[in-house]
Amino acid sequence: MEKALTLLKQRSLLNAELKIRSDNGYIHIPLSREPFAWELEMIRSKVPEIELCDSEFPERQDKIPRLADLLSAELPPHVLASLPHAIDFIGDIAVVEIPPELEPHKLAIGAAILKTHKRVRTVLSKSSPVNGVYRLRAFEAIGGEARTKTMHKEHGCVYHVDLAKAYFSSRLSYEHLRVASLVKENETVVDMFAGIGPFAILTAKKHADVRVYAVDMNPDAYVLLRKNVLANRVMGKVTPIAGDIRQVVKERLAGVADRVIMNLPEKAIEYVDVACKALKPEGGVIHYYQFVDAPEPLDTARNQFAEALKQTNRQLIKVAEARIVRGIAPFKYQVVVDAEIK
Ligand SMILES: C[S@@+](CC[C@H](N)C(=O)[O-])C[C@H]1O[C@@H](n2cnc3c(N)ncnc32)[C@H](O)[C@@H]1O
Repeated sequence: MEKALTLLKQRSLLNAELKIRSDNGYIHIPLSREPFAWELEMIRSKVPEIELCDSEFPERQDKIPRLADLLSAELPPHVLASLPHAIDFIGDIAVVEIPPELEPHKLAIGAAILKTHKRVRTVLSKSSPVNGVYRLRAFEAIGGEARTKTMHKEHGCVYHVDLAKAYFSSRLSYEHLRVASLVKENETVVDMFAGIGPFAILTAKKHADVRVYAVDMNPDAYVLLRKNVLANRVMGKVTPIAGDIRQVVKERLAGVADRVIMNLPEKAIEYVDVACKALKPEGGVIHYYQFVDAPEPLDTARNQFAEALKQTNRQLIKVAEARIVRGIAPFKYQVVVDAEIK
């Protein structure tokens, strides 16, 4: 149930005004709206037993006011309807996307989020898409303290985050856990695009005998990564490396890895040859990420990865899993392919 609740909260799908109830061994969770088809598919891929049904729920006595209730006096109904569906919580920072029609009301929205979420100290609105080699976006503070630095907790690890300087997304939380859980004792892992370290550090925390090389070419991400290695006491298990992965593999990491993580979805296809070089001669596993448009996002990613592999001296043994990680825009998905390679 925890996993389902986390996913529903991340999409602002949980109705916090109503009580969760259990009935005949089933847990009924109240929703704030009907999920989009892709949201349901994404949640089902992580919690397959989830089902959508009509149900009655008692009201919570301790209910927190909804964003829309707090703003109903200030905003006209048609504007209320476009209030942000999803709020990302990173440490004590809330991140929202403000559509153009809500732009004049952004400070009221920031203030309402601070009121409805007691742990939030800063509200940021996304003011650009994620772009550039370092995968960064611009933010504007619309509530609380104007800052982008915070401490974030995920699966028992703690991370120094600076959203303006290094990529981090709380929406990848389940993916970090999934991959870290697939790692086996005594493996060597190369995290090719490590960012501030959420795959690498969780992997090291979860396993007694692993070596993880965590590489990033963003100098600010590297500084945060090193801090996070110390904060989580995984020195010796995680080796942070600053640099371009192509160069780093050539100089230091050729043939070392049982497993390679390629979390750079817009460009991973260009680095399949590098991942193959990092793998041990006998092969291993590649977790390959890609942004793909509908329809058939899973087939598209599987096929494109297989095509890229043909340009190397490696062979695909099998695709152990291909799954949608998240929807990133209407009809556009982040997909992962877990491939066994020899
Ligand atoms: C999408 S972020 C992933 C961060 C991390 N894996 C996570 O889950 O939070 C991709 C990262 O790859 C880094 N990057 C991009 N191109 C790179 C390259 N050629 N070599 C090493 N790092 C690179 C960027 O700086 C960025 O931090």
